[in-house]
Amino acid sequence: MSGKLWGGRFNEETDGLLEALNASIGFDRRLALADLNGSVAHATMLRERGVINDADADAILGGLETIRAEMLAGTFAYRISREDIHMNVEARLAELIGPAAGRLHTARSRNDQVATDLRYFTRAACSLLAADLRALRRVLLEAAGGALNERVIMPGYTHLQVAQPILLAHWLLAYERMIARDTARLNDCRERLNESPLGAAALAGTSWPIDRAATAAALGFRAPMANSLDAVASRDFALEFLAAGAIAMTTLSRLAEELILYSSAEFGFLTLPDAFTTGSSIMPQKKNPDACELVRGKTGRVIGNLAGLLATVKGTPLAYNKDLQEDKEPIFDTLDTLHLAARTFAAMLARAAWRPEEMRRAAERGYSTATDLADTLARAGLPFRQAHEVVGTLVGQASRLGLGLDGLDDATLRAAHPLLQDPATLAAARAALSVSGSVQARTSFGGTAPERVTEALAAARAELEAAEAAAAPADASVVTLLPGVVLP
Ligand code: ARG
Repeated sequence: MSGKLWGGRFNEETDGLLEALNASIGFDRRLALADLNGSVAHATMLRERGVINDADADAILGGLETIRAEMLAGTFAYRISREDIHMNVEARLAELIGPAAGRLHTARSRNDQVATDLRYFTRAACSLLAADLRALRRVLLEAAGGALNERVIMPGYTHLQVAQPILLAHWLLAYERMIARDTARLNDCRERLNESPLGAAALAGTSWPIDRAATAAALGFRAPMANSLDAVASRDFALEFLAAGAIAMTTLSRLAEELILYSSAEFGFLTLPDAFTTGSSIMPQKKNPDACELVRGKTGRVIGNLAGLLATVKGTPLAYNKDLQEDKEPIFDTLDTLHLAARTFAAMLARAAWRPEEMRRAAERGYSTATDLADTLARAGLPFRQAHEVVGTLVGQASRLGLGLDGLDDATLRAAHPLLQDPATLAAARAALSVSGSVQARTSFGGTAPERVTEALAAARAELEAAEAAAAPADASVVTLLPGVVLP
């Protein structure tokens, strides 16, 4: 079939160039399962409401199941001349059951149909990605548990300069917290988008006695959308999904950046599993962190997906405009990219080999306990600003001698300030200079002291378990259905 799918006011065939520009079947076939389920719900409702008779309804529903089977078997012929997934299904239905197929579109427009399909699809995408991110959190929590047991210490940085020692578990839990919020954003998006546009028809509703609550319920939506214009014209749900995806990907990108740095020879804090690195064709010693670099790199396009759709939507008047057909590819791309990135990181981090000795050595460099020495002087009565100055001078002396602060002898420390002439304060100062002492001292809520991190780990575990129990099932089949459109 080519040219016009339905009659109307046209005398001329569609130009081939417009056909090519207009066709979305190349990508929106991925909505096939959503589209079929939407049509089943709509046809069933039309029968219940007496809009179509039992014989037609049976023929339509039977035909839709035949189409589903053809799609699953890979024998369904998607035709560019049939423009999009909706017309491909409808035209095939007409081939299968004849004119009764035309009754399926009673009280429906492609405008409410596509909005329904895309919400249905994006809902499943949110669940799938949330499950991926929960699995990654699980890996981070396991790693944090191990690192906490060993009290592994690493340098904490600000400005990428050694700042203060921290527990590796604390660093791992920082990412787990970020990813927990990324997961929550996807769940929020899922909650907010979970309303049904179906029955809004072209833009204004319909004169047919439809039951929008019934189709909404059949498709698992919380309720029908309250305003028909909003239902067909809004894509804020798509933007929200893309924003949540971009933020999550940005978290992974920061993690990627740290892993790249920390696995370099200069840092040497960890070794990434061979299975997630590549060699160089010319330099035999190389072990390149490609997985991390690709996640960092692909974050650019995931951000681009959001920026692109924002730009598309910003100028569109109510209600539907064909511009909105551009909403699908960014959603598919963000879904696929984040799905792959999150699972790659979970698998890679589960097998990363941390190197506690290297980390501790790095934490001991860079005068990371200088604040602790200043705190000791402040506790002995010196105002903190002055203590800061005294320690600054000591750091300068140590640095000129090529020593750490703990390498300075007692005479030098005593000479730095009269308070250090008191043996008890001097002893406290010495104790404060060790990285483990420094870590142990940071007992404020949210701090890096082992007992705080133990509590934080338990809380994060409990939160993850509750989230796992409450999670909407990730129906991967909705987003992975079609042959040729297999998720990576
Ligand atoms: N393929 C279209 C899309 O994705 C379906 C809606 C078409 N509606 C219309 N009025 N032409 O947006």
